[in-house]
Amino acid sequence: MNILGIETSCDETSASVLKGDFEILSNVVLSQDEIHAPYGGVVPELASRQHLTSISYVIEEGLRRASLDLEQIDLYVVTQGPGLVGSLLVGLSFAKALAYYHERPLIGIDHLQAHIESAFLETREIPFPVLALVVSGGHTSAFFLKKRMDYQLIGKTRDDAAGEALDKIAKFLDLGYPGGPVIDKLAEKGNPKEFTFGLPHMTDGSLDFSFSGLKTAALKYIRELKISKNHPKFLDFLASFEMSIIRALLANLAQAIKRCKPKSLILCGGVARNKKLRQRFKIFAQEQGLSFFMPSPEFCTDNAAMVAALGWEMFKGGKKPLLALDLNAYPRFPSLQKLSK
Ligand code: KG4
Ligand code: ZN
Repeated sequence: MNILGIETSCDETSASVLKGDFEILSNVVLSQDEIHAPYGGVVPELASRQHLTSISYVIEEGLRRASLDLEQIDLYVVTQGPGLVGSLLVGLSFAKALAYYHERPLIGIDHLQAHIESAFLETREIPFPVLALVVSGGHTSAFFLKKRMDYQLIGKTRDDAAGEALDKIAKFLDLGYPGGPVIDKLAEKGNPKEFTFGLPHMTDGSLDFSFSGLKTAALKYIRELKISKNHPKFLDFLASFEMSIIRALLANLAQAIKRCKPKSLILCGGVARNKKLRQRFKIFAQEQGLSFFMPSPEFCTDNAAMVAALGWEMFKGGKKPLLALDLNAYPRFPSLQKLSK
């Protein structure tokens, strides 16, 4: 069984071919970072145009690396949402056309569920129940999975996503886009205890996240202390801000563990590439006595391998592929809640 996954939800055009359970034959990711860098963030119109330009090349390259042609693809899987609708529609329309022409089934998947699936790409045996933290540029959400493919959303950010907060502060400091990886690298040489940031917490007892307070506190430091690349404590500031986000994520996770009593933890999404977060998450999980799983960095940021893997899992589980032409894109959460049981 050969599965072709297509991902175009934000600013990465990606195609991946999987062979059954789970040999990754190819995973081509074409980033648009250079296109959006001058604007310090993703420009939706430019993103969809670039997907249009890249998609056939990326799919051809995915097939070439897998040494397969389209006639040998048995199942198509594509990201339906959440994401930028213009971008999603490029992948969706392409996938529909291919599935229709080649008379093969097509499955639409949810981007956040695909991020969680990325943990299963390299490890099949993850003990359930699982608590999964999806930390990306567009989302910061916690899911409880009693069993495989059973997603219960237990908390999400009420304002900025963690990656978005990193990207915005990096933009403000003129560090380029995306800011997360730049801060990750620079923060290595800084002292994370130099600047203090309060821990955000929800007064209503919910497990939601909030990062706008940390972002505002960071902006206040920047303005009051005139922090810039030349400031003597520049690296300390970045390390402290990065650590404040990590602390907020882990504090929320600790609350969620108390309520859900999982056996394993998953950390995934683009920000899960962050070295300090990975280290802290590992120590945290060990202290909690829980199994923990993090995808390799290449599978944390958007990629189509996780898309293909999720679609295949759903197909095996008996999900009926939709009539290819009925599939539509969705921009945000409500559909996700509908998708989960
Ligand atoms: O999952 P992803 O590729 O796209 C979304 O679904 O949003 O995540 C992109 C986010 C960006 O905010 C980027 O700055 C962040 O992941 N990111 C990182 C690192 N690599 C990517 N954040 C911190 N440290 C990194 N090494
Ligand atoms: Zn993502």
